[in-house]
Amino acid sequence: MKGVILAGGLGTRLMPCTKVTNKHLLPVYNKPMIYYPLMTMVKAGLKDIMIVTGGNNAGDFLRLLGNGREFGLKDISYTYQEGEGGIADALRLAENFAEGDKIFVMLGDNIIEDDISEEVAIFEKQEKGARIFLKEVPDPQRFGVAEIRDGKVVNIEEKPKNPKTNYAVCGLYMYDSDVFDIIRTLKPSARGELEITDVNNEYIRRGTMSYTILKGWWTDAGTFESLFRASKLVAEKEGFKLS
Ligand code: DAU
Repeated sequence: MKGVILAGGLGTRLMPCTKVTNKHLLPVYNKPMIYYPLMTMVKAGLKDIMIVTGGNNAGDFLRLLGNGREFGLKDISYTYQEGEGGIADALRLAENFAEGDKIFVMLGDNIIEDDISEEVAIFEKQEKGARIFLKEVPDPQRFGVAEIRDGKVVNIEEKPKNPKTNYAVCGLYMYDSDVFDIIRTLKPSARGELEITDVNNEYIRRGTMSYTILKGWWTDAGTFESLFRASKLVAEKEGFKLS
C-alpha cells in the first residue's frame, strides 16, 4: 500500500499566518505540522509516500523534508495541485504514483495519537473497498459526519447544520484502486470543491465501506482554535506541562 499526504489548499482560515507560508509548515508544538501525518505513515509501515502540495511555497516542502532519510524513507515523491479544487481534486493527482496499488490517504492538517499499523496490515490483505476512521467529537458540524446503523456506516454528510451523530470522519482514508474512477465521476459541490465525502458515499453505496473508531485523540489543525489544541495535545503527550 502507498501513502498520500494532501497538503495543498490556501489555508485561508489561518490568515495572516498563511500569507507567506503553507499551512502545513506552521509549527504544532515543536515540529512542522506536516511531520505528524508523515510520522503516522512511517510508523504504520508505509515506505512509498507522496506529498501533494500547492500554492506559492511548494518548494519549501522539499527544503524541509528533502529525500525523507530523516524519517527512515529512501525518498519522498512530490506533486503539485493547481488551485484548490478540493481534497478529491488533490487526491486524483496521485493516480500515476499509486500504480494500481491501494492507498492510505491522510490530510496534512490531521494529527492522531493512535498507531494504526494494524488497520494498515488488515487493509493490505483486504481485496477491495475502503476504510474510514471516526471519532466522537463535541462539534460535529465542522466535519464530515457519519451515520451508523447496525454496525455499518450508511451515510456521510459534509458539515451538516443538524448532525445525526457525533461521529466525525477523520482525515484518514484507505482506498482500493477504484478511487480514481470514482473521483472522475464527481461534480463540484456548493463550495466549488470535489469532496472526499462524495467519494466515501460512493463506497457506502457499493457496500464496500468499513470503519474504525480511533481510540486516542484526533484533531485537525486548520483553524486557530484547532491549531492551538493540536499543539497542546502534542505537548502533553511529550510530557510538557504549561505552568
Ligand atoms: O479534518 C477532517 C475533515 O477534513 C473531514 O471531516 C471533512 O469531511 C473533510 O471535508 C475535511 O474538511 P475541511 O473542510 O476541514 O478540509 P480543508 O479544506 O481544511 O482541507 C483539509 C486538508 O486537505 C488540507 O490541510 C490540505 C488538503 N487539501 C484541501 C483542499 C481544499 C488539499 O490538498 N487541496 C485542496 O484543494
